[in-house]
Amino acid sequence: MSKAWPCPGCPTGGIGLGLICPVLLQVLVYDLLFGKGLKCGGRWKVLVLKHRARLQAELARLKVRKKVSCNDDLLTPTEGSIQASQVPRYVRVNTLKTCMDDVVDYFKRQGYSYLGRATRMEELSSLSGKQFLLDPHLQELLVFPPQTDFHENRLYVAGHIILQDKASCLPAFLLNPPSGSHVIDACAAPGNKTSHMAAVLKNKGQIFAFDLDPKRLATMSTLLMRAGATCYELANQDFLAVDPSDPKYSNVTDILLDPSCSGSGMVNRLPVEESAPSPARLRALAAFQRKALGHALRFPALQRLAYSTCSVYQEENEDVVRDVLQEHGAAFRLVNVLSDWPHRGLATFPGAECCLRACPTTTLTNGFFVAVLERQQESKDQGSSSSLPAEAEVDGGVERSQHGAETGLHMPCKKRRKKRRRVK
Ligand SMILES: C[S@@+](CC[C@H](N)C(=O)[O-])C[C@H]1O[C@@H](n2cnc3c(N)ncnc32)[C@H](O)[C@@H]1O
Repeated sequence: MSKAWPCPGCPTGGIGLGLICPVLLQVLVYDLLFGKGLKCGGRWKVLVLKHRARLQAELARLKVRKKVSCNDDLLTPTEGSIQASQVPRYVRVNTLKTCMDDVVDYFKRQGYSYLGRATRMEELSSLSGKQFLLDPHLQELLVFPPQTDFHENRLYVAGHIILQDKASCLPAFLLNPPSGSHVIDACAAPGNKTSHMAAVLKNKGQIFAFDLDPKRLATMSTLLMRAGATCYELANQDFLAVDPSDPKYSNVTDILLDPSCSGSGMVNRLPVEESAPSPARLRALAAFQRKALGHALRFPALQRLAYSTCSVYQEENEDVVRDVLQEHGAAFRLVNVLSDWPHRGLATFPGAECCLRACPTTTLTNGFFVAVLERQQESKDQGSSSSLPAEAEVDGGVERSQHGAETGLHMPCKKRRKKRRRVK
């Protein structure tokens, strides 16, 4: 029988089972079977290696018994990992570098089979193998089965496709600034939404992008370069300290505000991040979000703003929008976007259903929230305007198409305009 070897810091008192410290034994067996092999030397390594064949055979037997082929599948799934396994792989086609037809052709040549445009969400959840679809809501978004990995794909490396969750594509898609606009991305890094907005603008106009975190800005700079975006200016600056009366921003008509949040909607969060934020943290986040939204509405030429979070909490979503709209009186109102979107804002105040929510079960995405606010046009007859949700399509003389509202998906602008006139 082996001697007892003292092991400092061992919870068993350093002696374990009279053979070897059990905690250390677990570490050694883990390194041998799942890690990078045994790094330590000496007699403990010799002891464990003596049993290597037997340990490996036991692991193989366990996988057969559990009917799994890889080690990761032995882990007990957490709620997050179950949800992550339901969310498809979304691929945004970067129209600054390529076009939808070329990307579809490329994947077909790679052996994928293209099923055309989906009309129902169920089609997205039943994708399997090498099938892919065009998303029913976003015309530049392809949908592949969950867990499809394109991080090594040529098109991804060249910036022709962007791996971006569908929900995270909503803010730029719904803001939809006309080409040539001046836009602020208030909390911008690492920049997927900025690159999407550059694509919406067709690289014409100006995006002023701010972020407090220099490391995230450095990543963002690389990402934007890879995406071929050119119409932007990055600033390592506190958005709350940006002066709305600075002439530099006098033509800013659109703001995308995606502030720091609890991240509670992200299905791929690490287990350590999964616990709910404390009430104090939620209050602090919501206070910042309210401040940032209130600040954004002070830009004098602002017409339209998209506020978004990847949080599931009402405190960071509907409550923030309600409080700030109340503060700003009748100057701004909510726009009723994507009327066929299945998951709406919680009905906590009149008009909250104009906001969009997203989650793995209802929209097959990460948990997300978006609200689009629009400046109220002064009514010539009445002097003040209604606080009802907006449905207008024309902003300051620049026509802005509204996505999928009321009349079904992606109807050409003219048709939508006709129908809206009829509605009015
Ligand atoms: C949710 S992330 C933004 C993600 C980004 N919109 C995207 O799509 O890639 C929030 C960002 O806000 C930044 N941030 C936090 N407080 C800020 C402030 N006062 N001014 C500017 N940026 C801020 C954080 O550094 C973080 O990068």
